[in-house]
This record gives sequence, C-alpha cells and structure tokens, in this order.
Amino acid sequence: MRAAGILVTLVINVLAVVLRGSAQAPVPAPPPAPVLQPVAFSHNVHAGVAQLPCAMCHPNPDPGERMALPPAALCLQCHASVKADSPEIVKLTTLTTGGREVPWARVYEIPTYVFFSHRAHLEAGGTCADCHGPVAERDVLAREGDVTMAGCMNCHTTKGASLDCGLCHQPYGE
Ligand code: HEC
Ligand code: HEC
Ligand code: HEC
Ligand code: HEC
Ligand code: HEC
Repeated sequence: MRAAGILVTLVINVLAVVLRGSAQAPVPAPPPAPVLQPVAFSHNVHAGVAQLPCAMCHPNPDPGERMALPPAALCLQCHASVKADSPEIVKLTTLTTGGREVPWARVYEIPTYVFFSHRAHLEAGGTCADCHGPVAERDVLAREGDVTMAGCMNCHTTKGASLDCGLCHQPYGE
C-alpha cells in the first residue's frame, strides 16, 4: 500500500507539471451499475415513502470528513417489530447477531490518496443530490454521481473553487 502511495505521488508530481492550469482529467466516468448489497435495503422505502431524514442514518460525525453508515442497532429499533418475519429482515437479524454490523458494499469510495471533506462541501452549499443523484427515489443505489477527478474538476471550475493539485492530493509525507 505504501509503495502504491509513493508511486501515485510520483505520477501526481509529474502530471502536475504537465497539467497545471488545465482541467484535463485522466479518469473517465464509469457507467453506473446497481451495487449488490447483503440486505435489500431501499432508500425509496425509507427516505422516499417513509421520509426518514438522511441525517438520521448518515450523521456526518466530527471531524466531518465522512457521512458514515448507520449501525445495525438503529435498523433494529424499527425492525425488531416492523416486518420482523420477512426473509430480508430475518437476514438482517441473522447477519447482525452478536453485535456484528452489516457488511455493506461501498457505492461511492474514492482512493485514500484523495483528500475530501463532506462538511466543507455542505457548508459551501452543496447538496447530497449534487454528487449522489436522486437517492430517495432509488430502491438500489448505483454510482450515478460523478466522483471521478473529472467530476470534481467540473464543479470546481463552475463554482470557481480551486483546481490546485495540492488541494485534493496532499504532498506525500505531510
Ligand atoms: C424508523 C423505522 C425504520 C428504520 C430505522 C429502518 N426501517 Fe427498514 N423499514 C421500515 C418500514 C416502515 C418499512 C416498510 C414496511 C412495509 O413494507 O410494510 C421498512 C422496510 C424494510 C425492508 C423491506 C422488508 C420487506 O420484506 O418488505 C428492509 C430489508 C429494511 N427495511 C431494512 C432496513 C435496514 C437495513 C435498516 C437500517 C439501515 C432499516 N431498515 C431501518 C422502517 C424502518
Ligand atoms: C434508514 C436509514 C437510511 C436513510 C434514512 C438514508 N440512508 Fe443512505 N444508506 C443507508 C444504508 C443502510 C446504506 C448502505 C446500503 C446501500 O448502499 O443502499 C446507505 C448508503 C448510502 C449511500 C452510498 C454510500 C456508499 O457506499 O458510498 C449514499 C450516497 C446515501 N446512502 C445517501 C443517502 C441520502 C442522500 C439520504 C437521504 C435522501 C439517505 N441516504 C437516507 C441507510 C439510510
Ligand atoms: C461534493 C460532493 C458530495 C456531496 C455534496 C455529498 N457527498 Fe457523500 N460522498 C462523496 C464522495 C466523494 C464520497 C466518497 C468518500 C470517500 O471514499 O472518502 C461520499 C461518500 C458518502 C457516503 C459513504 C460513507 C462515507 O462517509 O464515506 C455516504 C453515506 C454519503 N456520501 C452520503 C451523503 C449525504 C447524505 C450527503 C448530503 C447530506 C452527501 N453525501 C453529500 C461526495 C459527496
Ligand atoms: C457540486 C460541486 C462540487 C463537487 C462535485 C466537488 N466539489 Fe470540492 N468544492 C466545491 C466548492 C464550492 C468548494 C469551495 C468551498 C469553500 O471554499 O468554502 C470546494 C472545496 C473543496 C476542497 C477544499 C475544502 C476542504 O475540504 O478543505 C477540497 C479538498 C475539495 N473541494 C475536494 C473535492 C473532491 C476530491 C471532489 C470530488 C470527489 C470534489 N471536491 C467535488 C464544490 C464541489
Ligand atoms: C478537486 C479535486 C482534485 C484536484 C484539484 C485534482 N485531483 Fe487528481 N484525483 C482526484 C480524484 C477524486 C481522483 C481519484 C479518481 C478515481 O479514482 O476515479 C484523482 C486521481 C488522480 C490520479 C490517479 C489517476 C488514476 O488513473 O488513477 C492522478 C495521477 C491525479 N489525480 C493527478 C492530479 C494532478 C496532476 C492534479 C493537478 C492538475 C490533480 N490530480 C488535481 C481529485 C482531484
């Protein structure tokens, strides 16, 4: 991992010279495919029809970099009784016995060499839909928002935010 980090930093430093000042992106956007999850959780049912607020399950804990995923205990507050006998809820309770968490497959995940903060974007007026699409209408999430470097650069260009390589790629070792 460390070797990979050094390699990426080297490439970034070389490309910095070539690309500085232009918003050219080396990464094409992948087509969105639905992500298979261990339990058939639906945002449409919970955030859409039942209108549960995003922040109930994604609280953006300090220091604000992440939004976080909900603990199973929160699901079970309702599902100890709601639909407790349905096959998907039985799967949920079985998977999480003994205090285990659901091994959710990640939909939006960027490499660790990229610096990103949710709170900085929310404070700048960004909305969940800007980067994640109409989540509350989806039964199954796909990576339909563009969080490639091109996606970041497009909005930074539009909003007049910095395009400096060092904004998102901290110099190695610092
Ligand atoms: C505030 C209460 C509440 C919380 C918290 C909650 N749910 Fe639900 N869930 C519901 C309701 C209401 C339904 C719809 C039930 C129906 O169709 O009658 C539902 C439906 C479901 C279903 C479909 C069940 C079926 O067979 O139709 C699954 C799976 C599910 N929830 C998983 C979860 C998971 C996983 C979590 C935690 C991340 C969670 N729920 C948190 C209230 C809740
Ligand atoms: C009842 C709890 C609950 C609510 C309310 C909820 N979510 Fe989620 N969210 C989850 C769970 C569980 C997952 C992991 C499973 C999945 O991806 O569907 C998740 C995953 C996500 C992801 C993908 C995370 C990743 O892997 O990168 C995004 C983005 C997201 N939610 C956004 C939202 C937004 C926006 C709202 C409000 C419109 C919202 N969620 C409301 C429980 C919830
Ligand atoms: C400016 C773009 C942007 C905005 C606005 C944004 N997100 Fe994200 N979101 C991302 C990126 C990028 C990731 C991947 C972060 C990573 O892998 O470190 C992510 C990851 C997530 C995750 C996965 C868990 C985590 O903490 O990494 C959840 C859940 C999530 N976002 C929910 C939301 C919700 C809810 C909102 C609105 C309140 C929101 N996001 C607003 C870009 C955004
Ligand atoms: C929807 C528009 C939008 C998208 C998409 C977006 N950004 Fe930003 N970003 C902004 C704005 C606006 C600011 C300026 C915030 C300020 O200065 O108050 C900003 C500031 C930042 C900062 C500096 C603030 C801080 O956290 O210290 C970083 C780093 C950053 N963005 C990284 C990213 C990355 C990485 C992505 C892609 C995964 C991304 N941004 C996608 C709008 C966006
Ligand atoms: C606003 C945030 C942001 C800025 C500014 C930025 N990058 Fe990136 N960069 C990213 C993100 C996000 C990724 C990861 C993309 C992915 O995994 O899809 C990335 C990935 C990369 C990669 C790895 C590409 C690959 O194929 O995996 C290189 C090299 C890179 N950036 C170089 C640069 C250079 C050079 C600059 C300055 C011109 C720059 N970046 C400015 C967000 C940014």
